Amino acid sequence: MDNPSVFITRKVPEDTIAPLREVADVKMWDYEDTPVPRDILLEEAETATALYTILSDGIDRELFERAKHLKVVGNLAVGYDNVDVGAATEHGVVVCNTPDVLTDTTADLAFALLMAAARRIPEAEQYIKEGKWGNWSPLLLAGQDIHHKTLGIVGMGRIGESVAKRATGFEMEILYHNRSRNEKAEKELGATYALFDEILERADFVLNLTPLTSETKGMFNRNVFSKMKKNAIFLNVGRGGAVVEEDLVAAIKQGDIAGAGLDVFQKEPIPEDHPLVQLPNVVCLPHIGSASVETRKAMCSLTARNIRNVLSGERPEAAVNWDEIK
Ligand code: DGY
Repeated sequence: MDNPSVFITRKVPEDTIAPLREVADVKMWDYEDTPVPRDILLEEAETATALYTILSDGIDRELFERAKHLKVVGNLAVGYDNVDVGAATEHGVVVCNTPDVLTDTTADLAFALLMAAARRIPEAEQYIKEGKWGNWSPLLLAGQDIHHKTLGIVGMGRIGESVAKRATGFEMEILYHNRSRNEKAEKELGATYALFDEILERADFVLNLTPLTSETKGMFNRNVFSKMKKNAIFLNVGRGGAVVEEDLVAAIKQGDIAGAGLDVFQKEPIPEDHPLVQLPNVVCLPHIGSASVETRKAMCSLTARNIRNVLSGERPEAAVNWDEIK
């Protein structure tokens, strides 16, 4: 019998895919910066037993209809809004993701973004690099305190808990909003459940960590920003689609809120003339939430193991529709 075939849509470290090479013929789109063109992705999907994908690949119904041999999609991310899971399930394809291994790293980044936006760190660095530092003055580049402030976390899963844990070190008050109560976070971290509107009214930092779904799409809009405190900083480390970006730009320009820290955008990548990049009180990052070498390698290894397990008929460590298929 022929070996199963795996198509990897972006260059990943060779050592992390060694276990896959033992059981399958592996083909990799060998470019770090260039996405695989759609026509090549579809062509490869037609013959592949497994696809190893990244979050910018659109793994949609059209693809599943053409991919007659496909058994598994291993997505290199915890989020899987780029995959039509309903269509995958209908076609008997297992969809895997990479939870847990990135929790602490993403929480570190969320907190770094909070601190960078509150204390104006990128602006301050730019100030020196542009040779503007002539004198010290009392309110030069003065930002906002972080300690003892109120953090409102929207989407209290594993990453939210991990951010909350960091916030306790800063003696912050922690509010959270989630579809279901998180008793662990309440008991162990002193987090308080709040209605969405209460978070908007009370939080100095509003952090979005929700996955992108039909319910969360565009949930941070003009109306929502207008309910936040004028000194509030909005942070997004979930998905860009949760935000109506024109409304965020308007809210910041009008002074409805004080600023933002964003790791994710509606349409990535964003150009340097994007309206959010132009605002001095917005810190923009290129979707690097989980980007430490250790964590990205752990995600790559987990993706390889997930695919290998499915190809061997075993339950993968992380799948989003395993029970619906088996
Ligand atoms: C994810 O995993 O969903 C992040 O956005 C990228 O690490």
